[in-house]
Amino acid sequence: MKVLGISGSPRQGQTTDILVQEVLNGVEGDTEFISLSGKRIGSCLGCLGCVKDNVCKIKDDMSELRQKIVAADALVIGAPNYYGMLNSLSHCFWERFYQFRHREGDEIAGKLGVAVGVAGRTPDLPVRDIENFFTYNKIECIGAVTAVGPASCFTCGHGETCRAGSIHMTFGPGTKITKAITPDLAKQQEKIAQARALGRELGNRLLMR
Ligand SMILES: Cc1cc2nc3c(=O)[nH]c(=O)nc-3n(C[C@H](O)[C@H](O)[C@H](O)COP(=O)(O)O)c2cc1C
Repeated sequence: MKVLGISGSPRQGQTTDILVQEVLNGVEGDTEFISLSGKRIGSCLGCLGCVKDNVCKIKDDMSELRQKIVAADALVIGAPNYYGMLNSLSHCFWERFYQFRHREGDEIAGKLGVAVGVAGRTPDLPVRDIENFFTYNKIECIGAVTAVGPASCFTCGHGETCRAGSIHMTFGPGTKITKAITPDLAKQQEKIAQARALGRELGNRLLMR
């Protein structure tokens, strides 16, 4: 039994990475975590080069990931919300799943999945996108977990004065950045517990197969 956890956040060690890892921590069995940060994964070109053999012909880091995806029994996919949807790195990753679907290819159909969403304010939006992708790929989503993470405005140095930033938008003008208002997964213990419980459930479901 192998569970592959993939975080699409370009920010290593931040909320999406940690929450995906917490789901994996709950799994009793073999797990592997992969961050897409720094990986070269281009968008699908729609070239149809994968029609004959269900193998994408673009030479980038998706080739190595392909093997791991096929070998996994379940996928835990996490993505941050960028502008109301999952970020483009995660989207490129998913677009490349086009290689699996031709001529009723069945290399990923029937796997189990867990969706992990993170955002400054609305983490349910990337979860919705991930759930859609699972459906398109015939992966059964057994559940989702979300958490709020710190927008870059908390650390960019201009968060207190910038009128376009999330501090101004969320808390109003004149707000001072303090620890108390800074989102932190460590303050969302119920989300960590939920992530681990989902991991346990995922492991149990796989054992029953
Ligand atoms: C380009 C960009 C766009 C963003 N857009 C949104 C947004 O529309 N809604 C939201 O709630 N958070 C938004 N955020 C905040 C991120 O979702 C938040 O910082 C989250 O913690 C990122 O995940 P990470 O900490 O794992 O990197 C945005 C962040 C960036 C960098």
